Amino acid sequence: MKILVTGGTGYIGSHTVVELQNKGFEVIVVDALFNSGADVSGKIGKITGTKPTLEIFDLCDREKTADFFKRHHDVKGIIHFAAHKAVGESVEAPLKYYRNNLGSLINVMQGMMDNNIRNIVFSSSCTVYGQADEMPVSESAPIKKAESPYGNTKQISEEIISDTVNTGKLKSIALRYFNPIGAHETGLIGELPIGVPSNLVPFITQTAIGLREQIRVFGSDYNTPDGTAIRDYIHVVDLAKAHVVAIDRMINKKMKNDFEVFNLGTGNGYSVLDVINSFEKVSGLKLNCKIVGRRAGDIEKVWANPDFSNKELGWKAERNLDEMVASAWKWEQELRKRPEK
Ligand code: UD1
Repeated sequence: MKILVTGGTGYIGSHTVVELQNKGFEVIVVDALFNSGADVSGKIGKITGTKPTLEIFDLCDREKTADFFKRHHDVKGIIHFAAHKAVGESVEAPLKYYRNNLGSLINVMQGMMDNNIRNIVFSSSCTVYGQADEMPVSESAPIKKAESPYGNTKQISEEIISDTVNTGKLKSIALRYFNPIGAHETGLIGELPIGVPSNLVPFITQTAIGLREQIRVFGSDYNTPDGTAIRDYIHVVDLAKAHVVAIDRMINKKMKNDFEVFNLGTGNGYSVLDVINSFEKVSGLKLNCKIVGRRAGDIEKVWANPDFSNKELGWKAERNLDEMVASAWKWEQELRKRPEK
């Protein structure tokens, strides 16, 4: 059974391709390689024994996307990851984010409509909730005004999908990720930010390996037990497995509504200092940390209520914080050993 994974050489995409192949799906990847490398498909091949087919083009290109779907009208389901994802950059370059994240989604959905492809899993984010009033956050929490153009593209994308589902021609599952971290146990694939990382865990591992001098902790005056901000960190492999469950649910007609939304988190909130302490414990290293002011646009705390996903999908995140951080550290060390990087 053929599944299209857009953005399949990216961080979450590549881990999802591995899990799909492990379950016997045939995977075709489309990626423009804006934030990843073509070598990732070879790494996936090393892990699973099968190198996925990779087509390199920009899904914002209408003609190329339409041509792709003509050639692959037998695709049974799509997992749409391809998108820009840097919150800060989206504030500096909003049009880049709206054009890319919405344009590619529209072209993909047009391809589905034109070729009778019915199933799409969408890569959404807990950012759609903004600073929720109640913790933990369940799927019924109100969608507040987005804090960034990136967040707004996720909100608008869910609306575009919902409106298209209302035509009766397709079905969708939106997965709202909390904070994915960690890497594959082999150390062959993981998160490779281009330039200076903006996310916490890549910054920690790059500081530990000597690429960055110091890790700054953004804010110690939040209304949390240790004063630093709280997030629900989830291992990327746990997250990837949920996509396979979602694809199976769609293809095997187990959906209860034509558009379903699920939170993907562990239900545990950890502070920035918790993550740093976990890293120091698993690595045996002491990080050079400095507490600085809050980062603009950050929320104080967010963690998921994963009950609905656990029950409906029969899926549960299994890996704990130490395992997440240890796998990220293994990936960073393997990466710096390899001659090609
Ligand atoms: C953000 C987005 C999320 C997006 C994710 C991936 C929001 C609310 N969240 O998550 O939707 O999917 O990026 O790009 O927009 N921190 C430090 N020092 C650092 C880096 C981070 O203290 O050097 C702190 C942050 O202030 C935050 C926590 O670590 O409290 C996690 O930050 P980060 O990894 O950047 O993720 P989010 O901002 O939560």
